[in-house]
Amino acid sequence: METLTLTRPDDWHLHLRDGAAMQAVLPHTVRQFARAIVMPNLRPPVRTVVEAAAYRDRILAAIPAGQEFEPLMTLYLTDNTRPEEILAAKEAEFVKAVKYYPAGATTNSDAGVTEISKCDRVFEAMQQVSMPLLLHGEVTDPGVDMFDREKVFIEKYLIPLREQFPLLRMVLEHVTTSEAVEFVLATDNMAATITPQHLLFNRNSLFLGGLRPHYYCLPILKRETHREALLGAATSGNPKFFLGTDSAPHPRNGKESACGCAGCFSALHAMELYAEAFESVNALDKLEAFASFYGPAFYGLPRNSDRITLGKTTWRIPDELPFGDTELVPLRAGEAIGWKMV
Ligand code: NCD
Ligand code: ZN
Repeated sequence: METLTLTRPDDWHLHLRDGAAMQAVLPHTVRQFARAIVMPNLRPPVRTVVEAAAYRDRILAAIPAGQEFEPLMTLYLTDNTRPEEILAAKEAEFVKAVKYYPAGATTNSDAGVTEISKCDRVFEAMQQVSMPLLLHGEVTDPGVDMFDREKVFIEKYLIPLREQFPLLRMVLEHVTTSEAVEFVLATDNMAATITPQHLLFNRNSLFLGGLRPHYYCLPILKRETHREALLGAATSGNPKFFLGTDSAPHPRNGKESACGCAGCFSALHAMELYAEAFESVNALDKLEAFASFYGPAFYGLPRNSDRITLGKTTWRIPDELPFGDTELVPLRAGEAIGWKMV
């Protein structure tokens, strides 16, 4: 069997949820990744260092016996976050970043920022102590077309924010457009994460033979030209682009609904999905740096020292997985995939 051995990767954008849901999904991530940047969009959100410490303890307690995993925590930025909280976060070394959600942009974002200028003093403090700002880069204005929300966010908010805080280190999370790729390339102190779904699928996947809720995530899948731009960025060997699955579990009935939740679950088979995407453009030699080198470099952390191996063998992605007292449907459920972590 053809195999691919890589330095163990990390996931720089992950939703673990809490309680029984977290216990159900965490082992999948632990199997593939050594560390993950854990998103703070719980209900209620993780807003303070004290809350992040408690959430971290709950994650650590849920790691399967005998396995190792380091959760890298984030704080959820609100209109009321104080600069002092940033200084406390810097002191507490387990908090690695602050997450900005425009209020109402995505799952559990109602407590997000209503007006970006309210955070000026916080951004000042973050710039000073070199605390990265992770951005959900979409406008929420209902008058803006769903497929333009990332592009408009860059023009309307990100360019001015960059001018106001030129040294603030930022990650434009889960980029989905060629405009985002171009902006990241042209801007200092700016990196981006890319998900497997945005590398593998375009918006046609949402409507293939009928409405496909398990392909619905935010930012939404875009047209093919954007997917090609993302795949070009991910496989370019540019350290500004690194792995972030945005694996976002929801119960099946939350997705298969008249008003379904946004989020794709990929923690089960993330590395296999990325391998397939990289292989599609003959760039498997670029996968290790994207998955295992550029993220630690951005966050100033050491690379992992152990390795994982993917074998070239075809298997069928399960139809569903246990999820607390219910189930979830993984990305591309029921279909074949040509790589398997061994
Ligand atoms: C995420 C979730 O479910 O928490 N959903 C998603 O579609 N990506 C939130 C987010 O990252 O936008
Ligand atoms: Zn996310």
